[in-house]
Amino acid sequence: MCGIIGYTGSANAIPKITKGLSVLEYRGYDSVGIAARTELGVKTVKCKGRIGALEERLTQQKLSESQCAIGHTRWATHGGPSDTNAHPHRAGRVVLVHNGIIENYKELKEMLSRAKVSFLSETDTEVAAAVLNAAYDACNDPLTAIRTATAQMTGSYAFGILFDDHPGEVWAIRSGSPLILAKGEDGFYLASDMTALLPFTREYHILKEGEIARLTATEAALCGAADAWCSPTWSITSMTPESAQKSGFEHFMLKEIHEQPEAIVKSVSPRIKNGLPSFEADGISSDFWKQVKNIQIVACGSATHAGLVGGSVLERVAKVPAASYIASEYRYHPPIAVDGTLVVVISQSGETADTLAALRYAKSAGLPTLAIVNAVETTIAREADYRVYTYAGPEIAVATTKGYCTQVSVLYMIAAAIAHACGRISDEEARELVRSVAEDAPTAITEMLEKTETLREMSKRLAQKDHVFYIGRGLDYAMSQEAALKLKEISYIHAEAYAAGELKHGTISLIEQDTPVLAISTEEALYDKTESNVREVRSRGAYVILICRQDARDPGHSADEVILLPTKSEAATLFASLTAVQLLAYETAALRGCDIDRPRNLAKSVTVE
Ligand code: M6R
Repeated sequence: MCGIIGYTGSANAIPKITKGLSVLEYRGYDSVGIAARTELGVKTVKCKGRIGALEERLTQQKLSESQCAIGHTRWATHGGPSDTNAHPHRAGRVVLVHNGIIENYKELKEMLSRAKVSFLSETDTEVAAAVLNAAYDACNDPLTAIRTATAQMTGSYAFGILFDDHPGEVWAIRSGSPLILAKGEDGFYLASDMTALLPFTREYHILKEGEIARLTATEAALCGAADAWCSPTWSITSMTPESAQKSGFEHFMLKEIHEQPEAIVKSVSPRIKNGLPSFEADGISSDFWKQVKNIQIVACGSATHAGLVGGSVLERVAKVPAASYIASEYRYHPPIAVDGTLVVVISQSGETADTLAALRYAKSAGLPTLAIVNAVETTIAREADYRVYTYAGPEIAVATTKGYCTQVSVLYMIAAAIAHACGRISDEEARELVRSVAEDAPTAITEMLEKTETLREMSKRLAQKDHVFYIGRGLDYAMSQEAALKLKEISYIHAEAYAAGELKHGTISLIEQDTPVLAISTEEALYDKTESNVREVRSRGAYVILICRQDARDPGHSADEVILLPTKSEAATLFASLTAVQLLAYETAALRGCDIDRPRNLAKSVTVE
């Protein structure tokens, strides 16, 4: 949520910052800005809108050269999107960009207002700049000023800072929001996200909580709590610049849907040993799984839906009670923990504030925690007792697809691991389950991708509607919730998911002539019951698209249109249904001309509660 990029070195910073900002736009796209050191001091150019608008302003204001600059792309929290509220913010001799929220900004603003400090914007960030400037005025030392100022702030922050009288230096600190340093051939970088750095370098260092960084053209230095300066420990990321590009696809979302087969293989294969489930490489032994008696899955948005599917698989296969909870609610109604409770948090970004707060709550309650995370070394991954990475690669589209898909595949593997460790399934059954996820699921997804044309035709009808209903039973109800979220967030069509049997208890009154109902029916044993629900809505005028097994009995008789799914195994059918609903949402949004990768009001990685 919001993106930061900074550079100091021998090359021109302006094209680097604008390039980095265009990569970061998925983290927020309300407004954008740059502060760059020029011969006349630090010059700021910022505006409401996206990177294209900023580039026009840079041309108008003749800012094309600088060796040291910081930039920001914003997702508004305090104060709406506007030129004034855009970052960077200046106070006295300090200019900064900020990700996160300063929770006590009102108190700080009142304190500064009493000292006759005035403010231009409605943001908490300008208040942070003013607090830092006051501290800097008092000591004239950036390090001391940053320490003094941040000691007065509560909330979360990642700051990139320029001080007027420290040319060529970029300073940074983080607490609760991610920040990465990087070393290039011609200088040093700062960014909230590795993907923004990939066009320039793959050598990075993740800034620790509270660590202060000073970057110059020739050196990166860190200062920890003990006030001793040291050098960063550089690592090389496995991400490549191509992994953050569209590679010929029209949108990142479509590219990421197509990457799902490979992403599943990458996520599942490190957890297979001799054909059996094994998390030894993640530091989790089969003895650990034997102690698990109850699982609380905690996440947000699509990750909660992955938890619903995974919870159902865990209960069925591993015979362990497993429920999925919305992270932002978890702390207020904590479920009762029993001996052997394991809290599993799921997060693609590894930085979602609500999920992080729930994780911290669980830890403070003394519960063991395991994080299923995609972005490596992120806060959630680091703070959990155990971490299982999904290896989906960078996910750029705001609407998650391969992130969700790999979360479900890893939950299948955990279910297999627990069931096998506890002797609830035989070696043979475990092997078959693992094989179905590792082989059948990727193949089934590829088969569905080949039906894109057909799905595009079907979405023509959906694209003209204002309301769509998804129904399903069991696993399909969980999948319906993800399907409805996908359609809502990228096409802006109102979509709701209902347990198929629940519709007749009220919601069926909303069904009119031609109301689209997408019925998902992958579970053989539930087919007849779901089919009855399809008949109920159809006889009230609904236009039904049935997504069902290819061996279903006469599906064309029950529905207006049918999407047939491969049936090699439960995993094959489930992942194929996922791909079908993702493509339907994508094609519908494309027909409506929506900004698919950057839907309105949203941002990837929601780092505020
Ligand atoms: O990064 P996380 O997995 O923690 O994100 C959780 C949700 O914010 C995320 O899944 C969101 O619902 C997506 N936009 C859905 O496509």
